[in-house]
Amino acid sequence: MEKIIILDFGSQYTQLIARKIRELGVYSEIHRYDLSLSKIKTENPRAIILSGGPSSVWEKDSPKISKEVFNLEIPVFGICYGLQLISHLLGGKVVKAKKREYGFAELFVKDFDGLFKDLPEKSQVWMSHGDEVYELPDEFKITASTENSRVAAIENRKKYIYGVQFHPEVVHTQQGKKILQNFIFNICHISPSWSIESFIEDSIKKIRNTVKQEKVLCALSGGVDSTVTAMLINKAVDKSLISIFVNTGFLRKGEFEYFLDTFRNLKLKVIGVDASRKFLEALRGIVNPEKKRKIIGKLFIDIFKDSAKNMGGIKFFAQGTTYPDVIESSSVKGPSAVIKSHHNVGGLPKNIGFKLLEPLKELFKDEVREIGRKLGIDEEIISRHPFPGPGLAVRIVGKITPERLRILREVDEILLEEIKKSNIYNNLWQAFSVLLPVRSVGVMGDQRTYQQAVVLRMVESIDGMTANWYRIDYPLLSKISSRIVNEVKGVNRVLYDITTKPPGTIEWE
Ligand code: XMP
Repeated sequence: MEKIIILDFGSQYTQLIARKIRELGVYSEIHRYDLSLSKIKTENPRAIILSGGPSSVWEKDSPKISKEVFNLEIPVFGICYGLQLISHLLGGKVVKAKKREYGFAELFVKDFDGLFKDLPEKSQVWMSHGDEVYELPDEFKITASTENSRVAAIENRKKYIYGVQFHPEVVHTQQGKKILQNFIFNICHISPSWSIESFIEDSIKKIRNTVKQEKVLCALSGGVDSTVTAMLINKAVDKSLISIFVNTGFLRKGEFEYFLDTFRNLKLKVIGVDASRKFLEALRGIVNPEKKRKIIGKLFIDIFKDSAKNMGGIKFFAQGTTYPDVIESSSVKGPSAVIKSHHNVGGLPKNIGFKLLEPLKELFKDEVREIGRKLGIDEEIISRHPFPGPGLAVRIVGKITPERLRILREVDEILLEEIKKSNIYNNLWQAFSVLLPVRSVGVMGDQRTYQQAVVLRMVESIDGMTANWYRIDYPLLSKISSRIVNEVKGVNRVLYDITTKPPGTIEWE
């Protein structure tokens, strides 16, 4: 399959580039910017994209690539920092811009042959940069400008090197899709061959080649990612797969039994392990969110290892890691900062003693859901909101106790019931509640109360990487709030979280 490699210089938009390209039917993969030349050659990409990034090319320690990349006879497309890097490495000059350009700008196209074929003379683009190209490298020409950026796009057609200062991957760039199409299809002549069906087919082949006759243990969480992972592996090597579903004690009400039934209906061989007491014991008195995540990750692995020992001969450990987990948990893929140790990535100990099988690692949630549908998983499971592996443990801020778990479960049940009843569940990325380590004074039936406070969090998002708080109707919010304080013993205050991501994260811990 023909693919495009994106070298990541740390832009918040890098993953968007990947998904826009895949939407055009071409497989794209993100790699760290310092992927070696020999690795690039073995990957055999049909094009290389250099992403944006927060650094300045003229800084000593800024991320750079070898100049040899431009001699591989593979087309290169630099976006923002990528364009500056092309200019810098090939002998041009990049300087701090007199005026930082952030937001909308009008692009004036000068050359309609390359990236801008069939574009209007003027169109809106999205800019986000503090540096600019002042002098072009030899043999390059300017192909578009904006009012503040004389060098908004460049090319060296002979060497197949292109660059734009703006971001074609974001929706605010009106002709962004067309520009990417021009690069991929008219300049690189790549034929579209990536689709969900081809991914499934490819992935099944890869799993068969990797697993061979060995046994695989798959960790199910109840979420769509791990369910799709198990179904995919089951389709590839059904006799080799055993799944395990652990009750951490941090699931929502009735979920352990519900999920075990669901998995069995999907014809997965699944073992249910009730370790709720163990988890509660291990987290007694722990307040620090990262500590909670690490303890839970380690305990999970201990349980898997024990189960694997009992089963004998397990070689592979499968889990439903997806792309946002990877990006947010570590700097494996690029120089982005660690935000939190997602339980199925950074939360796991380094040496777990199994080989990891993560077939969905490069995919976004909506792609995973699409695969799930194709594999015949029920819509109820497919459209379920994401639920973090560490579960309610990271939604109870402060110490976890059975009583606090009871409170959060009851609150959550009311919230979800109302959200489903009013038919907004499927418009939301997530709706959940968080228990705060705070008590406040209230009055109920002439009595003073001094009870706990909960937060309701409802967000809209495409992939969990960014999120917007949901503009919920006041009457519904009011109904949920009054049901909670009336029905859940121990809660006398309800708050609504109106923080976007960034700067907040979706979960509180
Ligand atoms: P944050 O809180 O980082 O969450 O904005 C982004 C998305 O990831 C989910 N999440 C997790 N999923 N294991 C998971 O499988 C985890 O440890 C984990 N932590 C957060 C979160 O619910 C949101 O949808």
